[in-house]
Amino acid sequence: MDRHLVAAALLMASTSAAAAQSSWLTMGEAAYQQIKQAGHRVTIRANRLARLDSPSPAENLYMVEVNSRELQRITGTLHRKLRHCGGYMYHSSEAEARKVLEATRPVLAVTRPSYAIVNQDKVAPLLAQMDAGRIEQTIRQLSNFVNRYYTSAHGAEASNWLRANWEALGKGQPIISVEQVTHAGYGQKSVIATIAGSDKSAQVIVLGAHLDSINLTLKPDTARAPGADDDASGVAVLTEVLRAVVAANYRPRRTIKLIAYAAEEVGLRGSQDIAREFSKNNVDVVGVLQLDMTNFKGSDKDIYLISDYTDSAQNGFLGKLVEAYLPGVQVGADRCGYACSDHASWNALGFAASMPFEAMLSQDNPHIHGRNDTYANSGSQAVQALKFARMAAAYAVELGTDAP
Ligand code: BES
Ligand code: ZN
Repeated sequence: MDRHLVAAALLMASTSAAAAQSSWLTMGEAAYQQIKQAGHRVTIRANRLARLDSPSPAENLYMVEVNSRELQRITGTLHRKLRHCGGYMYHSSEAEARKVLEATRPVLAVTRPSYAIVNQDKVAPLLAQMDAGRIEQTIRQLSNFVNRYYTSAHGAEASNWLRANWEALGKGQPIISVEQVTHAGYGQKSVIATIAGSDKSAQVIVLGAHLDSINLTLKPDTARAPGADDDASGVAVLTEVLRAVVAANYRPRRTIKLIAYAAEEVGLRGSQDIAREFSKNNVDVVGVLQLDMTNFKGSDKDIYLISDYTDSAQNGFLGKLVEAYLPGVQVGADRCGYACSDHASWNALGFAASMPFEAMLSQDNPHIHGRNDTYANSGSQAVQALKFARMAAAYAVELGTDAP
């Protein structure tokens, strides 16, 4: 085995250099077949048939144990060979993996909102403030880091930069606070901006994107990975929502949390930590919106709602929001077929999550996960991301204002 590969894989294993350390992965049929074909050594510990969304047939889901040294090579195989037909969720223990496989939904006292669209007076002026130029600026700033890989110093610096950037936007606003969340095993921290609601109910709306990027080479710590579309474009959308909330002086009733997750590209690790923590603390998360890849217009329609690992009632609400607030913007639907981004971490714990996407899966940005995922390769524009930013802001304000 290549020496750099051994070093990187041991780093990923994170706790000790012991050769026999295990990791657990959960995945669908396509990913499992690919791993077998590529000759990776994995052991199936459990599997079960599951239906991921109602129109699609049931499929086999696997929980496998793998030597942690094999993990990075498996990531490479899945990202590279299969592209969008398979991914895995990473788990550091067998018990955690089993919970996800069995989709054990803890009894959560989560509130279902009314999904009424009745706050035009608050939404419209806020959307009018939103600006493609600001989104462009954030995408460029995040892309300027060599990479935002979860174990690299650049990835940690990007997290610190984002915290400072969000703090500056919330400066002098008593209802806005910004924090970083530390994760076990790697240096990149997630970043959370909280816009405190006036209501004592403690209900929360979550809007998320992932902070990390990846270049699928043998040296992801040093390789260039601008991740302009995947997913600086999502973090830039969150940033523009925050700026517009301040500019319009919007005061929510429910608390709104904007979260830039660490370590998405390596098995949804940051978002799983955070969703688990919220679930453990019985936080009443009314809805979750994931913004992952918003600025490449690959298909005829503008926004595609991902139907699997998401909540269909909330997806319906998002469609209605676009009709009401984004004249001319066309919405379609598609499916990932696997746990393709951080919404799946929330979905696995029983929260209502949605994932609007920039294109049909078959026509998405071909440059992701490499050195060419640049702003220029999204057409040097941010009008596509602006549609997502307006939809996200309408979502935050309608749910943030909605009565219990
Ligand atoms: N942004 C991608 C997911 C994606 C890519 C969705 C293309 C739709 C089209 C995300 O960052 C990613 O790469 N996810 C991994 C899976 C993850 C669990 C490691 C993937 O798709 O392989
Ligand atoms: Zn992504």
